[in-house]
Amino acid sequence: MHWTKTIASCASALLLGAVVLAAGEQSARAQQQPKSTASAEQDWWKNAVIYEIYPRSFQDSNGDGVGDLNGITQRLDYLKALGVDAIWLSPVYPSPQADFGYDISDYENIDPQYGTLADFDRLVAEANKRHIRVIMDMVMNHTSDKHKWFLESRSSRANPYRDWYMWHDGKNQTATDKGEVPNNWQSAFGHSAWEWDETTRQYYYHKFYIQQPDLNWNNPKVHEAFKAIIAFWLKRGVGGFRFDAITTLYEDPNLVDDDVLKDKDGKPTLNAYGDIALNDSRTNNLPGVHPVMAEMRAAADKFTSNKFPGTRVFIGETYLPNVAELEKQYGTADEPEFHLPMDTQIGFINKLDVATFRARLTDAEENLGGHTPLLVFDNHDNPRLDARYGDGVHDTDIQRVISTILFASKGASLFYYGDEIGMKTTPPTRKEDVKDPVGVTGWPKEKGRDGERTPMQWDASANAGFSKAASTWLPVPPTYSVVNAKAEQADPNSLFAWYQALIRLKKTNPALASGEEAQIDSQNPKVLSWVRRVSGAPAVVVSVNFTADPQTVSLAAPGSESRVKTLLKTPGAADPASLGSIVLGPYGVYVGEIQR
Ligand code: GLC
Repeated sequence: MHWTKTIASCASALLLGAVVLAAGEQSARAQQQPKSTASAEQDWWKNAVIYEIYPRSFQDSNGDGVGDLNGITQRLDYLKALGVDAIWLSPVYPSPQADFGYDISDYENIDPQYGTLADFDRLVAEANKRHIRVIMDMVMNHTSDKHKWFLESRSSRANPYRDWYMWHDGKNQTATDKGEVPNNWQSAFGHSAWEWDETTRQYYYHKFYIQQPDLNWNNPKVHEAFKAIIAFWLKRGVGGFRFDAITTLYEDPNLVDDDVLKDKDGKPTLNAYGDIALNDSRTNNLPGVHPVMAEMRAAADKFTSNKFPGTRVFIGETYLPNVAELEKQYGTADEPEFHLPMDTQIGFINKLDVATFRARLTDAEENLGGHTPLLVFDNHDNPRLDARYGDGVHDTDIQRVISTILFASKGASLFYYGDEIGMKTTPPTRKEDVKDPVGVTGWPKEKGRDGERTPMQWDASANAGFSKAASTWLPVPPTYSVVNAKAEQADPNSLFAWYQALIRLKKTNPALASGEEAQIDSQNPKVLSWVRRVSGAPAVVVSVNFTADPQTVSLAAPGSESRVKTLLKTPGAADPASLGSIVLGPYGVYVGEIQR
């Protein structure tokens, strides 16, 4: 299983017919006043560039083959040069590592593999010096089965922590017979979501691995516990949280079975684990999550500190079936929830299909109630970009296309370590090498997530500069001698240089920083083009070729031939003479300012 397979297919295409470049500037919002520092700090997340770090794989500083916090601190200047505003760390809390940190046994400490709280404080201080915020992963759906709450909970039915988790009797359970599992619900990691516990003779529910029992969010004490955890990290100066698996907080209280997914002949289908495939509508995206997030947000918004000013951002891991469901995650003006729920509608289309991209980008602009979209194409749960968008021939150019959509569209941008140098998915080839439990259960159909979690490729030295250990927790892919940060930093035509240039434009060009967005040339089935407009500054056009053949686009309205000044283009491409004739090579990209 990969996460993206659960996303329902797209809403109908909303094609904008007209070429709008000649339209007046009157539709653009009033010119923005120069912002005071205080309001820039409040609004930083609206145009943010956020970089996801998988700490096990970023930089090992102590030679044990596993990345750590001090390693991240050593690499902050690289992140600064790239231009990121914030780093999100996947979990670094103490954990038995059954799900590599997503099984947390203590929410208020650091796993010794990654360092200490003092190392963490130093990382935050050094990052903040460089104007980089540190965002923590917050896992509220479940804990580790080794967390003290669960150890208490499973010790006896009378324990005060008993109802912190989801305990149920089995079907037809008797004093001597455990009966059957309470219903057909499945774990996202394969097989039944219910695990029998002999000591107290009940089943507990786990949406993910057996070692990740789900918390009971009907219990107000669970709410209070997480507000205290959030305050603990806010006091240490973190810039916000990424809420893990947030849509799975609640389940149907009546324990109704999930529906079986059938094929076109009405027969049940099997998933990669060999289980009957289900639609998980009774364990996913239930409405109870909204008041919980509003409560957490209100608690965080009250927090002030002069340690590091500005908004603490709430980011959501929100795989949802459509834009209407995504819009709900922002909450209301009175009861805000997430600042930035991830828009997985766009980044996980997983096919370079112009009409679908155009429709979903239009959704993000027009159907999110004016909220800021968070674009994201990649993370530690999905094969990397090469595997989902590449063709094996033009992968670097295709990554230029993807990153242009990511950074030149309106909103905030989130990307995954190694994307900026074009790291490729490198899955294990033998079952005995698999580390991710998902791959252990799903082999060979589902190889798990190791392939997208391999060590960062820093340079051409041993272990790609990631570690001085004899062996690393996952092998370094053989591509590192060519695909590495050092080589790409020295090459002005590299993918790294492209990311850097796009991020710089996003930050410094007024239209790209905050301009409204409209899709243009909107019947073109091969090239996606859009315009960004802000008053008081030139509009910017962006065109990306979704095909391996050269394309020529005309973005000028009849009778209004406009000149255009190049801001960025695929290396080697010629400058266009005018907006009326922009020539794009295979998967070519053009970004230019309209000159009047
Ligand atoms: C999220 C994480 C994933 C983890 C799961 C369970 O989807 O991104 O890595 O395995 O939640 O916590």
